[in-house]
Amino acid sequence: MSRHRIAAVSDIPLGEGREFVAGGRIVAVFNVGGAFHAMDGICPHAGGPLAKGSMRGQIVTCPWHGWQFDVASGHHCLNAHLTQPCFAVVIEDNSLWIELPTV
Ligand code: FES
Repeated sequence: MSRHRIAAVSDIPLGEGREFVAGGRIVAVFNVGGAFHAMDGICPHAGGPLAKGSMRGQIVTCPWHGWQFDVASGHHCLNAHLTQPCFAVVIEDNSLWIELPTV
């Protein structure tokens, strides 16, 4: 597991997502009512930027073709076989850290 500081807490407004590069991968981090969730930022359909999708509660809609994911679990909203990898988020001293698996 490797830990990466990605942003200040205030860098991700309520109800929005932001994209970061950490550990050589694209990570999408979302602020759902003050709780932060991180998952792989590349949509498994065709590579769309999930962090730039619109959010409704904890559901993000990919801006390219509309696939929807629960940002807390990574589950695709319609296909039970599709789960986007999720990562732990830790808040420390007003900074957001994510923990990525080492490869
Ligand atoms: S790339 Fe995300 S829905 Fe197509």
